[in-house]
Amino acid sequence: MVYKNILLEQPEAGIHLLTVNRPKSLNALNAATLDEILSAVTRVAADGQARVLLITGAGEKAFVAGADIAEMRDATIEQARDFSERGMRAMHALEAAPVPVIALVNGYALGGGCELALACDWIIAADTAVFGQPEVNLGIPPGFGGTQRLPRRIGQAGALELLTTARPVKAEEARAIGLVSQVCPAAELRARGLEIARLIAAKAPVAVRLAKQAVLRGANLDLFAACALETELFAQAFATQDRREGMTAFLEKRPPRFENR
Ligand code: COA
Repeated sequence: MVYKNILLEQPEAGIHLLTVNRPKSLNALNAATLDEILSAVTRVAADGQARVLLITGAGEKAFVAGADIAEMRDATIEQARDFSERGMRAMHALEAAPVPVIALVNGYALGGGCELALACDWIIAADTAVFGQPEVNLGIPPGFGGTQRLPRRIGQAGALELLTTARPVKAEEARAIGLVSQVCPAAELRARGLEIARLIAAKAPVAVRLAKQAVLRGANLDLFAACALETELFAQAFATQDRREGMTAFLEKRPPRFENR
C-alpha cells in the first residue's frame, strides 16, 4: 500500500516511526488514514527485526485533532458503523502489535487522537500537549475505543468526567491522572522517544514481547486466570537462548548479547 496520509520511517535499526501526516487538518483521522495506520502496524508487526513502534503527528500543533469531522458530517448510520469499525481495527492492531508501541503526543490529542494515544502502550507527551474527548460537543460519543480504554487507564469516574464535560486536559494534569507516563519539552520529544526506544531495543526481544502480551491479555481476565497466563508466558521464556544469555551474563558480570531467539 502506498501511503498518502501517514509516513512510516525507520530512523534506527529496529525502531519504526509512524507519523500521521495531514497537518492541514491537524492530522484528523479519515477512513483512508485509519486504513493506512492498520496497514503500517501490520507491516511492522510482520518485521521480525522490529523492536519498537513510535507514533506521532506531523507539525507542531497537533498529534491528531480527532476523527475527521468533515468526512463524518453526512454519514448514515451504516457509514458511521463502518467508520467506527475501521477505527477499532486500527486501534486493536496497535494494542496487539508484538512490539511496544509508544505515542509521542506533540500537541492536540482530541477525540480520535486521544483514542489513538490510548491504544498505544503508553504515552510520552510534549509539555504543549492537550488531551480530551470532546465528542459530546459534536453530538456523538467516542467511537474508536475511548469509552473503554480511558476508564481502564485513569479510572471510571475520571473518565466519565472527561467524556461528559469534554474538558481539555493539559500535559501535566494528564501525567498526574495517569493518562501520560512522561512529559518533556516539545523540542525534545522525538529525541526522548528515540532514547526510550533504544533502551527497549537493547532488552531481550522475546521477554519484552511476553511482558506486553501478559499485560494486555491479562487485563481482560480475572486475577487468577491472568496470573496463570503469566506463569505460562514466564515458563515459555525459559525455552529461549536469550534468557540463558541474560542470566549467564549477569552471573559472569558482563553485559548480555541478545539475539532474539
Ligand atoms: N476534523 C476535520 N478537520 C479538522 C479537525 C477534525 N477533527 N480538527 C481540525 N480540523 C481542521 C479545521 O477545520 C481547520 O481547517 P481549515 O483550515 O480548512 O479551516 C484546520 O484543521 C485547523 O483547525 P482550526 O480549528 O482552525 O485550528 P485552531 O488552532 O483554531 O483550533 C482545535 C485547534 C484542535 C482546538 C480545533 O481545530 C478543534 O477543536 N478541532 C476539533 C476537535 C474535536 O472535536 N475532535 C473530536 C473529533 S471526534
